[in-house]
Amino acid sequence: MKDKIDSVGIVGLGAYLPEKTLTNFDLEKIVDTSDEWIKTRTGISQRRIASPEMATSDLAVLAANSAIKNSGIKKEDIGLIIVATVTPDMMMPSTACFVQAKLGIKEAACYDLNAACSGFIFAVIAASQYIANNTYKYALVIGAEVLSRFVDWKDRSTCILFGDGAGACILGKVNEPGILSAHTGGDGTLAHLLKIPAGGSRLPMSHKALDDKLGFLKMEGNEIFKIAVRAMANAAEKALSKAGLSCKDVDCLIPHQANIRIIDATVKKLGISKDKVFLNIAEYGNMSAASTAVALCEAVAKGKIKKGDILVIVAFGGGLTWGAIVLKW
Ligand code: ACO
Repeated sequence: MKDKIDSVGIVGLGAYLPEKTLTNFDLEKIVDTSDEWIKTRTGISQRRIASPEMATSDLAVLAANSAIKNSGIKKEDIGLIIVATVTPDMMMPSTACFVQAKLGIKEAACYDLNAACSGFIFAVIAASQYIANNTYKYALVIGAEVLSRFVDWKDRSTCILFGDGAGACILGKVNEPGILSAHTGGDGTLAHLLKIPAGGSRLPMSHKALDDKLGFLKMEGNEIFKIAVRAMANAAEKALSKAGLSCKDVDCLIPHQANIRIIDATVKKLGISKDKVFLNIAEYGNMSAASTAVALCEAVAKGKIKKGDILVIVAFGGGLTWGAIVLKW
């Protein structure tokens, strides 16, 4: 990958959050937990839950429509659709194909990208290459998840963390700098720390797998916690240095919203002041690939990012994966 991606930028943003809110107090009635424990250990107060008839592509389409409207472009000019998700509608075809059909964008290339919580960042970087080399005029990148269908609602160590949502952006050529640099990485030897064991070719879904709850997300939270801080801080520093910048230049940091303590420790390690960090974890919990996408959309909508600001989006997730993007807004 080139160190610098010139003249590609975000020209539209949108998000969709399901209406139904599940609070920590609601969770107290389902598992042995408390609002106090969840808030202190994670920073989460509530999360959104998709209605039963909605799948990931439905959330994605609503976010995409909003991003297309926000960009002012014609949807026919979108040549590529990437959906970053770990909770696809089904194993095959890709969720992006359903999105393409529902949006009515005939012949656009479409595929899913699985890099867990780092997925939106990986997808933006992938799409930006196609724009930079003029393969497509515009790309639609969506981070969308319905994690509520993949958590075990009897497992208090995981079900309290996750929520559903979708965020989308349109990438295109811009006259001003846009995306300045990026850094991504991973460590597959740590794949066991976060996984949905059954439903793939390793362990096809079976009555036994269902009974053993292997279709649900399994996580070694403590181990991930330690690595997450180091991975996010390193990714942000490496991406900034590729752009010839340092943490002092950052006007707004959009971290993956997994745990407030991970975010606080990362921000401390980077030496960025807390008032420059955009947070929405309290309202939505961890929405995996949708987290940074929704946060970016909200940060812009709330006026937290002004023209000319240096913005860093950084995430880590299952895989393990990590990545950061530096943008000039
Ligand atoms: N309510 C009350 N008590 C609980 C709960 C709960 N919901 N969950 C766990 N506990 C208990 C545990 O049983 C344990 O009790 P014990 O000491 O009697 O054994 C105690 O609380 C401490 O448990 P820990 O797991 O050590 O708690 P920790 O402070 O590590 O917090 C957490 C757990 C929130 C999961 C944290 O480790 C974390 O956020 N990890 C990172 C998660 C993450 O970011 N995942 C990756 C992204 S997701 C993706 O990529 C899709």
